[in-house]
Amino acid sequence: MDGPSNGHPMVGGEGPHSYSRNSSGQRIVIDMALKLIQEAVDEHLEIKAFSSSGAFLITDLGCSAGPNTFYAVSSILQAVEQKCQSLGLESQILEFQIFFSDHVGNDFNTLFRSLPPDRRYYAAGVPGSFYGRLFPKSCLHFVHSSFALHWLSGVPKEVQDKSSPAWNKGRIFYPNAHKEVIEAYAAKFAEDMGVFLCARAQEVVLGGLMVLTFITRPDGIAHSQAFVTRCLDLLESCLVDMVKKGTISEEKMDEFNLPMYYASPREMKESVERNGRFSIKKMVELVESAEAYPPPTGKMMASTWRAPLEGILKEQMQFGEEMLDELFNSFTRKYEESSIVEFVRESSITFVLLEWSTAD
Ligand SMILES: C[S@@+](CC[C@H](N)C(=O)[O-])C[C@H]1O[C@@H](n2cnc3c(N)ncnc32)[C@H](O)[C@@H]1O
Repeated sequence: MDGPSNGHPMVGGEGPHSYSRNSSGQRIVIDMALKLIQEAVDEHLEIKAFSSSGAFLITDLGCSAGPNTFYAVSSILQAVEQKCQSLGLESQILEFQIFFSDHVGNDFNTLFRSLPPDRRYYAAGVPGSFYGRLFPKSCLHFVHSSFALHWLSGVPKEVQDKSSPAWNKGRIFYPNAHKEVIEAYAAKFAEDMGVFLCARAQEVVLGGLMVLTFITRPDGIAHSQAFVTRCLDLLESCLVDMVKKGTISEEKMDEFNLPMYYASPREMKESVERNGRFSIKKMVELVESAEAYPPPTGKMMASTWRAPLEGILKEQMQFGEEMLDELFNSFTRKYEESSIVEFVRESSITFVLLEWSTAD
């Protein structure tokens, strides 16, 4: 069941800073993954094994409130329907149940209000952290999650402990921090992934599939070199400026750390292998196809980061609208003055298809 954390939900609603209005980049990637989802269903889904269960159960973990979740789940549904048709089983699986799952603080109202009216599935919301059990045993046929697994279950304790060599003084993130900080974050990721996989192994049926799409640091690229972490480094420097101006206290800055980690595909593979509950059927970096992306401008990047980070900055730094505007305007300026955009390819998106192996 859910742990104590309510998480740090994306900006809800449909306003200018909302996730639903600032997640088109993620949609491009979900689009790239569709063909792979179709192939996954065609090649690996043992549909005959499930046909007696009546309904096909899908969940999207970390669904947020924007349109991406509907897009992703309806493409899974279509792929399953097509497979049934191709096997002459269309009369067997009649119904689909989709569970939209996210932290309790997620804007489920906006999510439910914007459910497609012509949907061909039953919809339900499941509140709670995916770093714990969310469903009864052996009930899910397909688990999907995109752009969510870089969120850790929390900040590693050591980085907030003044007496620890991993204390992350004056910083909000790990890429340019000393090695103990990086190690603490990497260990937290490995631990969280283990918990995530154990929970899903209980919930997924025999032969069930799981597709995870997430931002990664390409293998062989240093933490400080990846595009996403360069962006957060820039955000950190904007916060440092605010400390120098006295807008925020040094103490607040020392206490604040982001609970996020951008693993490499290798780290993800090692976590799955160490856990042993799922086997990797496919692991692809979507980076090459991402070349079609237009290079993001400073304003675009500021909006892309504000939607996920506004909540945590309000909660932990007590930022109001004015301070958020100051921070993200400063980010826009610094981004445009910098050469970060040249490194946009130095982050990748990894698609991984996992098949259930064992619950224990
Ligand atoms: C960037 S949004 C991704 C939304 C959508 N899946 C997409 O691809 O556009 C990340 C979502 O993951 C959710 N999330 C992060 N950690 C989570 C956790 N431990 N349990 C459940 N949801 C979580 C956040 O609340 C947020 O809604």
